[in-house]
Amino acid sequence: MTATIDYADRRARLAEQLEHVGCDAIVVDHPPHVRWLTGFTGSNGAVLVHADGSAMVSTDGRYTTQIGIEAPDLELHLSRNCAVELAGRAGAAGVTRLGFEAAHVSVASMHRIAAALDPAAGAELTETVDLVEKLRAVKDDAELEALRDVADIAVRAFEGLVESGIIAAGTTERAIAADLEHRMRVGGADGIAFETIVASGPNSAKPHAGAEDRELCDGDLLTIDFGAAKNGYHSDMTRTLVVGGSEAAEDFAMEIYSTVLRAQLAGVAAARPGTPLADVDRACREVIAAAGHGEYFVHSTGHGIGLDVHEAPFASTRSKETLAAGMTLTIEPGIYVPGYGGVRIEDTVIVTDGEPEIITPLPKTV
Ligand code: GLY
Ligand code: MN
Ligand code: MN
Repeated sequence: MTATIDYADRRARLAEQLEHVGCDAIVVDHPPHVRWLTGFTGSNGAVLVHADGSAMVSTDGRYTTQIGIEAPDLELHLSRNCAVELAGRAGAAGVTRLGFEAAHVSVASMHRIAAALDPAAGAELTETVDLVEKLRAVKDDAELEALRDVADIAVRAFEGLVESGIIAAGTTERAIAADLEHRMRVGGADGIAFETIVASGPNSAKPHAGAEDRELCDGDLLTIDFGAAKNGYHSDMTRTLVVGGSEAAEDFAMEIYSTVLRAQLAGVAAARPGTPLADVDRACREVIAAAGHGEYFVHSTGHGIGLDVHEAPFASTRSKETLAAGMTLTIEPGIYVPGYGGVRIEDTVIVTDGEPEIITPLPKTV
């Protein structure tokens, strides 16, 4: 079953927000947002959405054919400076308060967009923050399908990696990353979601290590954080193993592993609609703190994932938002002991009206 995407409905929901922020229209040129609002996947484009929901798009000549296929119903204006082009049309149509996305427009672009409006007629730009981000945080059925699909590609690639037997003393981090990425590609991914992390031994104490020439040694903690990309959507998961298996593991490695696992399970269990995201973070953090390792959990608990790898909602001590059904969230607590090593376990879940749906269902055993 393939769910269809109602782009006009998405634009209508953005249009509804414009009244609350005092805008007659908004110009959007952040590529994931253009894609979400129109279906256009090119690297240079913009969409102008009016408060009545009507819209027009702009892209440059490289994408004329593509936009005609991907967003056939929208009035098109070709330009290299898409947002400037649409701002000029907004001004000519009498828009006096044009919104733009403050988080995604450079200062130089903002000045060009403002100049293209009709300043002589009193038209001005209005900063907007997180309008599209908030709408995107709750996924529709087509997005959930895409997210399950891309997560499944990564899960199958990891299973193949483990079965291949190359995770063993003497293999380099780099070789494991290359093997896993190859498996994701041949398994249907368009590419990787982010730089694959394969961090062994002391390297695993760095939450965002890369994949180096270090050779694995028996007893090493080995953190593998990886994701696939397909049709614009991303996956993200982490497993930590011990090279040589649990018999090779030091007691301390097993202790921090079991603590992170308990924290991660507590976080997943907390991922229910109506739960404040700060409480999901707290559910993980309390387990790690109670085990005496609070100082070594040095990042936040998770993030939404979709057209971006990191997107709303965010679960941290500072979060103010609340979970809703249809949101995605990673739950990824960790303990990182400098000079020794670290453990992170990360799943992506879909928040539902019942149990959270784990879309990265790999085993979580050493
Ligand atoms: N790999 C990036 C993250 O887990 O957020
Ligand atoms: Mn990750
Ligand atoms: Mn993540």
